[in-house]
Amino acid sequence: MGEVLQKRLLITGAAGRIGRTLSEAYEGHFPLLRLFDRVAIRTSHPNTQSIAGELSDSAALDAAMKDIDCVIHLAAVPEERPFEELVEPNIMGAYQLFEAARRAKVSRIIYASSIQAVGFHRLETGVSQGSRIRPSGYYGVTKAFGEALGSLYADKFGISVACLRIASFEPAPEDQRQLATWLSPSDCVKLFRACIEADPFSFAIAYGVSANTRTVVKDPPPAAINFQPSNDAEVFLRSIGFDPELKTATSLFAGGAYCGLGFTGDFERVK
Ligand SMILES: NC(=O)c1ccc[n+]([C@@H]2O[C@H](COP(=O)([O-])OP(=O)(O)OC[C@H]3O[C@@H](n4cnc5c(N)ncnc54)[C@H](O)[C@@H]3O)[C@@H](O)[C@H]2O)c1
Repeated sequence: MGEVLQKRLLITGAAGRIGRTLSEAYEGHFPLLRLFDRVAIRTSHPNTQSIAGELSDSAALDAAMKDIDCVIHLAAVPEERPFEELVEPNIMGAYQLFEAARRAKVSRIIYASSIQAVGFHRLETGVSQGSRIRPSGYYGVTKAFGEALGSLYADKFGISVACLRIASFEPAPEDQRQLATWLSPSDCVKLFRACIEADPFSFAIAYGVSANTRTVVKDPPPAAINFQPSNDAEVFLRSIGFDPELKTATSLFAGGAYCGLGFTGDFERVK
């Protein structure tokens, strides 16, 4: 990353896969970088602080929000689980986070949504910012809830909110679907940075997908967010292969295998 951005930044879920990638890339590039997670994080950089806490602990969240301009909210259960296991971290947790940000007068929240919020759209049709919410499962429902919360806090309280529908964050694409959905770590760093840097906007939805030849995303990012991804999953085509006749959930839907979990009937009925 280049110059220091004059924003005081909080990252929740900073001990996780995406959180570690961002915090390593951003260390030293912000006057204050605060890392929040239930897992304790060691830091040695003078501008980096860490707070160990739960999203359910509003006092810990208030401490985390102090003097912060921009929050990246990653802390959540990042996968399909029974609904009861998702309610506390992903629904109550998102609400607690937005409320703490409102109390602290934070100006921007970047919310880690997921392609799973629109997972039942077909890969061949693709998705866009205006795509109907079409969750692949209960996890996707919780991410759609977070987007709705973001829209509310943008309209009612004037917080600038970006919801990033992250697709497949991996070092390299792992299957046929990810030729369309891969988000490389370096493009992920660029995407969040573009949201931090963006001039004032109210509410935006953007996809976390690299510049893949077969990308599932059918429109450019919103004008406010200057995200220019560099990587293309196609360079992995030979090792992954592509079978146009494959008719599994993974090959048919934006949400991939999550769409097939507990699915009843014929995939053909989901157009
Ligand atoms: N990895 C992906 O491909 C992907 C795709 C779409 C969306 N996302 C979203 O991005 C975010 C980060 O994903 P990840 O892959 O880094 O997940 P991860 O599981 O690696 O990291 C999540 C972090 O959040 C923390 N956390 C969870 N619940 C918490 C709570 N109640 N209080 C405090 N900390 C808590 C965990 O300790 C963990 O360090 C998640 O919101 C996920 O839904 C990820």
